[in-house]
Amino acid sequence: MDKNAIKTAAEILRDSGHIAVLTGAGISAESGVPTFRGEHGLWKQFRAEELATPEAFARDPKLVWEWYDWRRGIIAKVEPSRGHWTLAKWEEIFPEFTLITQNVDGLHAKAGSKNILELHGNIWKVRCTKEEAVTENYAVPLNEIPPACPVCGAMLRPHVVWFGESLDADLLGRAFGLSASCDVMLVIGTSAFVQPAASLPLRAAENGAKIIEINPAPTPLTSYADISLLGKAGEVLPAIDGLLQKE
Ligand code: OAD
Repeated sequence: MDKNAIKTAAEILRDSGHIAVLTGAGISAESGVPTFRGEHGLWKQFRAEELATPEAFARDPKLVWEWYDWRRGIIAKVEPSRGHWTLAKWEEIFPEFTLITQNVDGLHAKAGSKNILELHGNIWKVRCTKEEAVTENYAVPLNEIPPACPVCGAMLRPHVVWFGESLDADLLGRAFGLSASCDVMLVIGTSAFVQPAASLPLRAAENGAKIIEINPAPTPLTSYADISLLGKAGEVLPAIDGLLQKE
């Protein structure tokens, strides 16, 4: 770990008014949740177009639900990582702290974060395909596949954003607004390939925010980052936190 860069990151955070954070699958990797890209990523084992598109769901809802049921089974067994815990703690410490996540696993909330913008939805929520009502569902495994809406009997779908679908406009507007107004944005554990989330740090940078990236591997965002901390979220975030305590 680059100790000087960690120290500078801690100083920037200490001096910042509004801190925004964008997380991706990498922050949950140390919890044991598979990421999407990379050597052991989900998209290496499965074809996204067969499992994570509206067309796939229309063609074979059972297959799609079985895949989500499997992922819910993995996530139900794991605990938040040191990265999740540190961010939850920072929400308490810093007066203006916004967490934007692409993750659907709910681990930020499990760690205690409260103010979370879940851009891609939540795997523990289901949506009625007829009435669009969103409810929580924690059954593992699901009682029936595909599950039916208890109110109207129509099929339920996972309340997640699939490829080819738009993000919730209000949520996205808020995420861009917060990115434009923050003083610093931490970008943690995302390959920065998926839009529009990958544009949020660029919006922040355009508006003068400092960008701090935490990722063991460089990404397309690395060249825009003021500080690139090449390491695991569960190591780098606690290291920064340790320095915050000292002053
Ligand atoms: P990816 O799987 O694309 O990228 C994960 C990133 O985490 C990579 O850049 C890794 O280098 C990094 N990483 C791995 N271990 C890490 C660790 N311990 N600490 C920090 N970083 C680590 O995941 P996302 O960028 O989140 O969309 O993917 C974006 C979207 O693509 C997902 O939300 C999902 C997917 O298709 C939907 O489901 C709509």
